[in-house]
Amino acid sequence: MTNDTIGSVLHETRTFHPPQAFVDHARITPDRLTSLREEADRDPEGFWGRLAQEEIDWHKPFPQVLDSSRAPRYTWFEGGELNVSVNCLDRHLARRGQKTAIIAEGEKGDVRVFTYASLHREVCRLANGLRKLGARKGDRIILLMPNVPEAVIAMQACARIGALHSVVFGGFSAESLKSRIEDANARFVITADGGHRGGKIIELKSFVDKALSTGCKSVRNVVVLKRTDHGIAMDDKRDVWWHDLVANVKDTCDPAWVDAEHPLFLLYTSGSTGRPKGIVHASGGYLLGALLTSKWVFDLQASDVFWCTADVGWITGHSYVAYGPLAAGATILMYEGAPTEPHGGRFWEICEKHGVTIFYTAPTAIRALMRLGDDIPAKYDLSKLRLLGSVGEPINPEAWMWYHRVIGGARCPIVDTWWQTETGSIMMSPIPGAVVTKPGSCTFPLPGIDADVVDEEGERIQSPEEGGYLVIKRPWPSMARTIYGDDARYQETYWNKFNNRYYVAGDSAHRDAEGYFWILGRNDDVIKVSGHRLGSMEIESALCAHPNIAEAAVVGRPDALTGEAVVAFVVPKGARPEGDAATKLTIELRAWVTEQIGALARPAEIRYGDNLPKTRSGKIMRRLLRSLAAGEVIAQDTSTLENASILAQLAA
Ligand code: PRX
Repeated sequence: MTNDTIGSVLHETRTFHPPQAFVDHARITPDRLTSLREEADRDPEGFWGRLAQEEIDWHKPFPQVLDSSRAPRYTWFEGGELNVSVNCLDRHLARRGQKTAIIAEGEKGDVRVFTYASLHREVCRLANGLRKLGARKGDRIILLMPNVPEAVIAMQACARIGALHSVVFGGFSAESLKSRIEDANARFVITADGGHRGGKIIELKSFVDKALSTGCKSVRNVVVLKRTDHGIAMDDKRDVWWHDLVANVKDTCDPAWVDAEHPLFLLYTSGSTGRPKGIVHASGGYLLGALLTSKWVFDLQASDVFWCTADVGWITGHSYVAYGPLAAGATILMYEGAPTEPHGGRFWEICEKHGVTIFYTAPTAIRALMRLGDDIPAKYDLSKLRLLGSVGEPINPEAWMWYHRVIGGARCPIVDTWWQTETGSIMMSPIPGAVVTKPGSCTFPLPGIDADVVDEEGERIQSPEEGGYLVIKRPWPSMARTIYGDDARYQETYWNKFNNRYYVAGDSAHRDAEGYFWILGRNDDVIKVSGHRLGSMEIESALCAHPNIAEAAVVGRPDALTGEAVVAFVVPKGARPEGDAATKLTIELRAWVTEQIGALARPAEIRYGDNLPKTRSGKIMRRLLRSLAAGEVIAQDTSTLENASILAQLAA
């Protein structure tokens, strides 16, 4: 057990046992974990079938657990009927109606509280309102919402009537919103007059207006939540205020019973190719995954206050804000605003104020807050915290140790959770009362999840420390079912590499001598900036759509704060700009990318060349560009390059 510092990088080799005080009350003890794993390995279908029966309220029981006959198109619990919102709300009413479901804190410090009964009422009212507008089972409804309880209410209302929501993150541009509305062929949009972030108002409704002004013919109505005092334009024929829509409707609503395989939602995410893909999740399997992992990984107990800081626009906000913890009957906290507004202690102040016991965030946020120094969290009482979580990107050992020591007071286990939009719920993570952790490792797959690291031939890599493809070898209930409108792309992206035998995650990983998994990063052209997933091709197409740009290649480079940063190599039409001309073009291109995709995708750095490094067959050598972006000396063989001289120009 040593702990030494190499240069500025902490090399942490200590291991951390679950604290006894935690183990004493944990939902899953080491023995229980062993028996779950044994049960899952012995009879995976029986395992999932038992859990689905015990954990979900079925309207009609499922006749079979798994259908593999059309693999890799797997279905789970098909023929069974349920409603997800009934499972998140109605089933708690009798015993927990007055329990707090959501505590919502706004950036300005305004607080609202919903009990399970009041949340149920609001969901029913909106569901009735949506039905009044003509929304039906199977309709697609786009949500562009601030991170407020009404976002959850809208998601749950869609689930109640069997409509599919597709939440779009508020940081995307009107262009991105438009392409998602059109891809989903959505009939309704639910938005707000604005949201609060960083002391400013995010003009959500005007984004919707802009998107709808140039297309999106499928949209019939836009429902608008009043969240700010800021005036907006309403189109009388199309737009309706949320409060008007629900003014005269009943506060109960008959749920639509749907097949377990009925899609619950689409969520767009970036992949290797240009267009974002609408990942489709199915009602029954997704609910089971979100619910079980909420209980297993976060150890949810009756008195907990669970704060997952993710925006509802991301999968984490779906599984661990809108669905999983509510299905488990927990109390959650939602915060609308920036982590440092109006001061750097905002997160810790909220933890103290509301007695947060479980806190789940992304490494980027941890690193940013760590930089502000230890005295800030020291000002707040964080003694109620009992469990900490991390998600979205690898957590570096320094950040892990800081989180452990300064936020967790060295008494809270840390769950480093690995999963993806496509997996629906957490796949690998420590079980906090049962697994010994190592900073930077997501430890082991959860019971029932058969993850592995394989080589180019699909064979398990035996030697510890050797990296390979992260795959999941058996289907699991919360797996994505398809890409909306493009099943061929789904199969090609996730299954074809190893002849449909395994789900291919797109990450590389290795396992150490004790079998712990360590995620190394993406092995496709996806870049993770502050945990947000960006497709390099998507940014490249945006850049190439600019009238002055001939060609562009985008790669990620390591960044101490955001994990990765976007670096663009650009070939302009005409002469390569230098000095002021280059600065001017850079400003313009950054604004252009913001306009086309959103501020998340804005390149941190743009370099100009007369060409890009290409092989003789014309393929861009991204590997070399990655090295250039990271400022590395090119040690690789460049003899296959058509135009090696260009490297010197781009390195400058
Ligand atoms: O590369 C992995 C990284 O995030 C990717 C999935 O991104 P997204 O679909 O946006 O979902 C993020 C939240 C679930 C993965 O392919 N990733 C996620 N969690 C971790 C991680 N990398 C390392 N460690 C993690 N705990």
